[in-house]
Amino acid sequence: MHGVWANRWTFILAATGSAVGLGNIWKFPYITGENGGGAFVLVYLLCIAVVGIPVMMAEVLIGRRGRMSPINSMRYVTREAGLHGAWTGIGWMGVLAGLMIMAFYSVVAGWALSYIFSTGAGMFAGVDGENAGALFSGLLGNSEKQLFFHSIFSLMTLAIVAAGVTRGLGMVARVLMPFLFVVLIILLGYGIVKGDFVAGLHFLFDFKLDKLSWDGVLIALGHAFFTLSLGMGAIMAYGAYMPDHASVGRTIITVGILDTVVALIAGLAIFPIVFGSPGLVPGEGPGLMFVSLPVAFGNMAGGQLFGTLFFLLVSVAAWSSAVSLIEPGVAWLVESKKFSRVGSSIVLTLFAWLGGVASIYTSFMFDTLDMLTSQIMLPLGGLFIAIFVGWLMRRAIVCSEMDAEGHPLFDIWLFIVRYISPILVALVLVFGLYKKFAG
Ligand code: TRP
Repeated sequence: MHGVWANRWTFILAATGSAVGLGNIWKFPYITGENGGGAFVLVYLLCIAVVGIPVMMAEVLIGRRGRMSPINSMRYVTREAGLHGAWTGIGWMGVLAGLMIMAFYSVVAGWALSYIFSTGAGMFAGVDGENAGALFSGLLGNSEKQLFFHSIFSLMTLAIVAAGVTRGLGMVARVLMPFLFVVLIILLGYGIVKGDFVAGLHFLFDFKLDKLSWDGVLIALGHAFFTLSLGMGAIMAYGAYMPDHASVGRTIITVGILDTVVALIAGLAIFPIVFGSPGLVPGEGPGLMFVSLPVAFGNMAGGQLFGTLFFLLVSVAAWSSAVSLIEPGVAWLVESKKFSRVGSSIVLTLFAWLGGVASIYTSFMFDTLDMLTSQIMLPLGGLFIAIFVGWLMRRAIVCSEMDAEGHPLFDIWLFIVRYISPILVALVLVFGLYKKFAG
């Protein structure tokens, strides 16, 4: 059995540290750009509300019930419910998915690290969209540089995981997350004053159904899982440290709202700059953040300082997320008592690092890892978690873990976890994958 977070807020901050990361600031704006804006954003918000947050509660609940690594917590609740051991597979798939995500995540985090130095050196002074695009392509064409920063980021993650997640990470979240928030607000201010804010608003919130495909719906669902760190046991591992008396419901709603607000502000900062700069298009792809924001920093007063600070904070946000990608596997190896924490951390980080090297040299690897995890493994993990908690765990146990006997919201939540979330996830998975591979 683990130690326990000092209090409810430490859990909220650690979970938010895991949730808020590249998913919010890099991935959300670029997939929104590629999928036409408005309708995509609405589907994404719906997925967060009716699938993401309810399933997140279910995942935390399993972790707190088992109080061990995801694999062993799954084993515990499976035994408790008298079920076949195959359900432990949720934990195994999670460990694998975490390493696969880390393999492309740390490459993008490496880009952010390298941008701390580019911005700090004033490379973006006065750039327009085209110049900024050329600078980013230059980075993509420089494998050694990517490899260097990817390796630095992997080592940073290794250091925290090896030291133990409960130590130190709370500080990161408590001090640096609020800072990130402030810098995003400053960028938002730049977008309002200097960019085309109205065009940005229309793009993000106008409901244009014709722009949305089934593939887009699947991407939105997958991203709801990705951004909440859901479906692979990361949040389950953190839930294992949650104090008994804390309310799962209220806590998770707080985390979900914080995460969503950060993503929306990032979008509201990025798109006005895109529409205000000739040479930039919303469908830019993975480079969107690395091309549009330098334009803002290169042309605003104090941009060199704020830009450096911004990429520093994005790197920190990515760092506190990456830790939760490795932690489930490490926690399990440590529990098996055959490995030390340091040894386990080194082995698993090394696996992810190798995957990252492959992603640097072939963009096919990068895209495949992203697609397989976000659009297949995370939704599947979430689907099984919802079925497990909704249908297979004893209602009395679920109720006592939620600490919500007789609360009207409890019945609504249970209804969503039983019917709405699994049916929606299954439908979107089946149609989305069918259209992707057969249609
Ligand atoms: N949620 C993080 C982000 O948005 C990424 C992340 C961390 C993650 N842990 C996870 C995604 C576990 C899926 C599963 O950047």
